[in-house]
Amino acid sequence: MELKSKRRVFFKEKANHEISESLRVIRTNLHFLDEKERGRTILVTSSTPREGKSFIAANYAMSIAITGKKVLLIDCDIRRPRAHESFGKKVEKGLESILLGEKNSRDVILKEVEKNLDVLPTKYIKSNVTELFLGDRMKRVIEELRDEYNTIVLDTPPLVVASDGAILSKYCDGVVFVVSYDQVSKSELEFSKKMLDNAGANLYGFVVNRVEKNGFSYGNYCYYNNNYTYYKDYYLDEERGQSRSKPKSKMEKYMEKLKKAYRRELSGNQKGKKY
Ligand SMILES: Nc1ncnc2c1ncn2[C@@H]1O[C@H](COP(=O)(O)OP(=O)(O)OP(=O)(O)O)[C@@H](O)[C@H]1O
Ligand SMILES: [Mg+2]
Repeated sequence: MELKSKRRVFFKEKANHEISESLRVIRTNLHFLDEKERGRTILVTSSTPREGKSFIAANYAMSIAITGKKVLLIDCDIRRPRAHESFGKKVEKGLESILLGEKNSRDVILKEVEKNLDVLPTKYIKSNVTELFLGDRMKRVIEELRDEYNTIVLDTPPLVVASDGAILSKYCDGVVFVVSYDQVSKSELEFSKKMLDNAGANLYGFVVNRVEKNGFSYGNYCYYNNNYTYYKDYYLDEERGQSRSKPKSKMEKYMEKLKKAYRRELSGNQKGKKY
């Protein structure tokens, strides 16, 4: 289904030379890091919201598809699904329905949204999302699809908001960590890095996003002091004022504990500071 969206995939647009050039550099660097002819799975994440994960994931996927290789972009951000919007699509059912055991991947993959590029979208659901990723289903979805694609790109939620990215990193060959210039604090980065290390993720590298040609961030519009409120908004956005149900699993309880400790640290030490 078509949807009017302001989100754009720059890679195909000749007019955006600088962005396309940066994306080519990312493509080349990742290519040489870990060459594979089939089923290379790359996860894109960041510490905090709005750093450009979905933008990088969609454009990177596109940059590979353009070379003639078959690519799948999976939207693993069930809290705030965006991947479909980059291609002007609407979603009826997606990854959430596979994880809930209602559909299989063939029913919901959007084929050829661009030449050589398929998208496994997701639809927002009001449930304890991390639980869905902790089961075996996501692992099976990826295993099932590996043979069909040269590259699979996973778009995930920010690590300070949810541990989904860390959990999913176990099923991926490597992780691309997006860092929005001048938006994220040192402790947020350290926290996220620790989370990935604990999960045993293979960190391919960092992509520094939102850097102006002169070396400054553009507008710095995302800077915030009250981190806790900001992250809470990530959930409230779609849940119309209701907070998320409490996590139940051991892993999620552990992650929540880490997050609470981290938030305490933030409110004590960092209010108003810039890094
Ligand atoms: N380098 C860039 N150049 C131009 N626009 C960008 C760039 N990076 C991100 N954007 C735009 O900024 C907005 C936020 O980016 P995006 O949605 O990719 O962030 P995100 O990290 O996926 O956010 P969330 O945490 O909510 O999932 C989008 O409208 C996106 O198109
Ligand atoms: Mg996103």
